Amino acid sequence: MSDRAIETLLDEERRFPPHPEFASRANATAELYDLEPEEFWAREARERVTWFDDFSTVSEWKLPYARWFLGGTLNVAYNCVDRHVEAGLGNRVAYFWEGEPEGERSSLTYAELQQQVVRMANVLKELGVRKGTKVAIYLGMVVELPIAMLACTRLGAPHTVVFGGFSADSLSDRANDMGCEVLITQDEAWRRGSTVPLKRTADEAMAAAPGIHACLVVRRTGHDVSMQDGRDHWLHDFDVPDDPASCPCEPMDAEDLLFLMYTSGTTAKPKGITHTTGGYLVGAATTHHYAFDLKPTTDVYWCAADIGWITGHSYIVYGPLCNGATSVLYEGTPDFPDKARWWALVERYGVTILYTAPTAIRAHMKWGPEHAAGHDLSSLRLLGSVGEPINPEAWIWYHEQVGGGRCPIVDTWWQTETGMILITPLPGVTTTKPGSATKPFPGIRAAVVNEQGEKVEQGGGYLVLEEPWPAMTRGIHGDDERFRSTYWERFPGVYFAGDGARIDADGDFWLLGRVDDVMNVSGHRISTIEVESALVDHQRVAEAAVCGRADPTTGQAIVAYVTLKGGEDGSLEMLEELRDHVARKIGPIAKPANIVFTPELPKTRSGKIMRRLLRDIAENRPLGDTTTLADPSVVSEIAAQAAAAPAED
Ligand code: WTA
Repeated sequence: MSDRAIETLLDEERRFPPHPEFASRANATAELYDLEPEEFWAREARERVTWFDDFSTVSEWKLPYARWFLGGTLNVAYNCVDRHVEAGLGNRVAYFWEGEPEGERSSLTYAELQQQVVRMANVLKELGVRKGTKVAIYLGMVVELPIAMLACTRLGAPHTVVFGGFSADSLSDRANDMGCEVLITQDEAWRRGSTVPLKRTADEAMAAAPGIHACLVVRRTGHDVSMQDGRDHWLHDFDVPDDPASCPCEPMDAEDLLFLMYTSGTTAKPKGITHTTGGYLVGAATTHHYAFDLKPTTDVYWCAADIGWITGHSYIVYGPLCNGATSVLYEGTPDFPDKARWWALVERYGVTILYTAPTAIRAHMKWGPEHAAGHDLSSLRLLGSVGEPINPEAWIWYHEQVGGGRCPIVDTWWQTETGMILITPLPGVTTTKPGSATKPFPGIRAAVVNEQGEKVEQGGGYLVLEEPWPAMTRGIHGDDERFRSTYWERFPGVYFAGDGARIDADGDFWLLGRVDDVMNVSGHRISTIEVESALVDHQRVAEAAVCGRADPTTGQAIVAYVTLKGGEDGSLEMLEELRDHVARKIGPIAKPANIVFTPELPKTRSGKIMRRLLRDIAENRPLGDTTTLADPSVVSEIAAQAAAAPAED
């Protein structure tokens, strides 16, 4: 976040106290903050989740590894589906699904969801999936995605969902790292009116992932795709039962692996963030209940994220379904076929709770308020934000243009690693401030510390978590050393989130963005080094350095500085080729917005690339101290090149 943005935050004086009427019916009360963490979480665990065997110990912390609800057994699919049907709620809608092509829509009740989950689980069994078999899922936003996740959890098979915008390399790397044996994908996905060839990409990935012996394919567009005999199977070709008795829910230990979610760190290799069964489900369901004030019988809840990221796991699939919510699931983009698509959706389904990211809000701001104004949004009663710091201007726009000035906004801070929201206002309780995520959730102990690790009562520093919480990651898959060094070494004894934060006189938290080499582009975490390795993978690139620069819509945009082999000059063609190369290696989300060709990169005398300097150049800031540079003249040269370089809109 730029210095100017931080200053705007510090000047922010607007206050939004809870509306008394909202407060009188709110799920949350101020008393929740008074409970000791263990007391709070034990109570919530029994309130929100049905256990096959009750737990005997609430939590245990052998730093850095925590375990929760020891001795407890449960099944996630049972909690998210079966128990609601058994309670007579089978006719309640679980998902209103809206396809991207206009007019394609369907709804799925909890009873229908149960049949489909059982059916898919029985199919997976035919493909050899058992408790413990690892499954990769590479699907777009179709109902089969939550169905596939739930089918895995029904069998006790851990999954990893790979975002449909990722490349074949990204998919095979993840499948190989986890040891996946089965892959679930679809023929093609719809995106902005054209098709994305998921099966074709999956084929490429499987060629590099020999551990995958079976591929289950969902029909979406119906276009022809190649199917390899013996390995690839259409989901609709199976004739298997769909009654729950044909496939009972596997009792799982609270600490059994539920899923891995890969996320970018500060090296080129993404981290397989582990989440286990009991703590994750309790954390996702509890935060969903209180932070969104969910009233399952009357609310229509819409989280507009993609299920391929942690936000979709916790707040489209597991949290809402565990709470028996009715949700909207939308396949497409906000601006297809026009920029009012979202608002038409809110009106059609009578959405009451909307959860999205600042980057989307800023895109809507740019498109103008007339698109929202053209639709009846009066059903909305609560708005949420996640993924990056929300600037007060976007907060106010969201509040006024979308929420009609009447909806509380919850700015929720959390991470793939935390599994659940950790810092958020409690609607009906908290007085909100535009740009502040306000207070740690009940049962959460967060703090801001300085360089020395000393607690800052008021002022800026680094965000840490002082005590474990149920949904916290149980580590990085296969890399204990990296887990310890990334999160636990910088400030011994506490979890270091990698974010800067400020705490104000009221004890409210203001998140200031990442303090490591991780960029946040449209709410997606991308590592500078991952993009650099994709660039140097190109045969004509000698060296590359990547950094983020502030972008008014996407939060950050990726800037790459590239030195070509043999001192060759860059060209527009080369620029496009490199951008495409990165898209092929990682995925289109990692494409640099601009590439600056330079004969040399600024390095310290010990050979370290000076990223701070490159960031300053990218953001047109006055350049600070360059005396540690091996060759200070490089800088003016790069600055001149940068000024001349074309940028993507
Ligand atoms: C950033 C997404 C400020 C932060 C759930 C964090 C935020 C990273 C907020 C995690 C917020 C997320 N305010 N920053 N409300 N929410 N972030 O793993 O930098 O994709 O570390 O999880 O997003 O991104 P991730």
